[in-house]
Amino acid sequence: MNRRAFLKSTGAFAVAAGSGLAWAQQSARPLPIIPMTDLMGGIDQRIGLELKKSAHDFGNGAASATYGINHNYLGPVLRVKQGQTLPFDVVNRIEDTSTIHWHGLHIPGDVDGGPHQEIKPGETWSPNVPIVQQASMNWFHSHMHGKTAQQTYKGLAGVMLVEDDASLSADLPKTYGVDDFTLVLQDKMFDGQGNMSYTLTGEVFEDGFIGDTLVINGAIAPLAQSVPTGLVRLRLLNACNARFLKLSMATGPLTVIATEGGFLPSAVQTDSILMSPGERYEVLVDLTQLESNSLLVDLDGDNGGILGMLGGIFGGGGGMTALTLSRTAERGFTGSLPNRLSNLAPPDRRPVTVTRSFVLDMGPGGEKLAALAAAWGNVCGDGVMGINGQPMKMDRIDEKVRKGDTEIWRISVDDQLHPFHIHGCSFRILSQHGADVPAYAQGWKDMVHVENGWSEVLVKFDYNAPVNAPYMYHCHILEHEDCGMMGQFTVT
Ligand code: C2O
Ligand code: CU
Ligand code: CU
Repeated sequence: MNRRAFLKSTGAFAVAAGSGLAWAQQSARPLPIIPMTDLMGGIDQRIGLELKKSAHDFGNGAASATYGINHNYLGPVLRVKQGQTLPFDVVNRIEDTSTIHWHGLHIPGDVDGGPHQEIKPGETWSPNVPIVQQASMNWFHSHMHGKTAQQTYKGLAGVMLVEDDASLSADLPKTYGVDDFTLVLQDKMFDGQGNMSYTLTGEVFEDGFIGDTLVINGAIAPLAQSVPTGLVRLRLLNACNARFLKLSMATGPLTVIATEGGFLPSAVQTDSILMSPGERYEVLVDLTQLESNSLLVDLDGDNGGILGMLGGIFGGGGGMTALTLSRTAERGFTGSLPNRLSNLAPPDRRPVTVTRSFVLDMGPGGEKLAALAAAWGNVCGDGVMGINGQPMKMDRIDEKVRKGDTEIWRISVDDQLHPFHIHGCSFRILSQHGADVPAYAQGWKDMVHVENGWSEVLVKFDYNAPVNAPYMYHCHILEHEDCGMMGQFTVT
């Protein structure tokens, strides 16, 4: 066991042993439904998003200091349609510089909201964001370099559901808050008074911030929701800073219908899915026969070997009950699962002209590079992280992609599991740490897991990202991203 593995195992033990879930509730309370802003009917004015400082009760009686977007904690669920252009006015009232990145959208670099598009306190950023892609679940969050982790944790995140003609006419549950639920999953720490806390230490930089309490839509789990008899759709976002979540159902398999970038060709049934920070999946729950069923979340099912093992010892393997759905007598979506969800074809490698390699690095270059990295705005205690030996540098372009090219990006790392993300595109995973891709992850993605061995994605870049507005690629453990595990590329 090397030093890193040892650190990981002791840290993991503390987390698992300590996850008596100090602030978990005895009985389930109602699932909060995040207010939805439906823009599909037409947009006749600019869309205001106010980043603000606020306070929020996660369900333990304390008024935690938070950030929110229009709300006290998190932002609205925006529902938009393919073909629309979204004229945002994002006004910053958090008294700290921020940015808002549209994670998952196929948009040019100058409206992407990455670290170059800073919004100073009191200022308004007004991008016109074109929605060209198909139906998909996307999200938005702070991308302020060096502060992405803390700002996102505090609440600067929201969901954007893109619909298209096919998704609107699909035979699927789609009544928001009735048989179609958006779930934002997060792990949090609360102090002795019940206030949400976030402390950066050496270990936090190394592992990313790991909380011991599961929160869904801003409320401490377990939660409960009654639903009509029939099929129910859950749109899931792992918005944790660093935690991988293993999801399963109390009864029966999970039925996965969509990945980040759209529908799978047909539903995939699986015992569980492993969701990294940043990933989204849509699943269906059938409450035609069953009176109730529960979504289980295994907080310790993350980061592979040791944590997974301890999860088995302490959590009984299945994880905690996160959300219980109980049916009422009312009939809801009683159609059955469609045989065909999309025409998604297998990935086609034939047009590939360029292959690039990216090696994630937990500690390149020693003290000298760490000092440089800090001067470049990376926040990593006295450490440093990078990709291909280089920590993030705002005025260095790491890769230049030719617009319209199809490429293979190979990513590897020599230690723990990391979630890798690329801006401005969706991609297909060709292999994941040297192994086959689980069937449920074979659709359009913008996140890939990287552990031992190469993970390979097939990706095509269709929009411009010039030198002054490049795209990012990075580890989506937000503390790693802030530590410098990020790079920049142009598309021209
Ligand atoms: Cu979800 Cu570059 O981020
Ligand atoms: Cu992104
Ligand atoms: Cu990482």
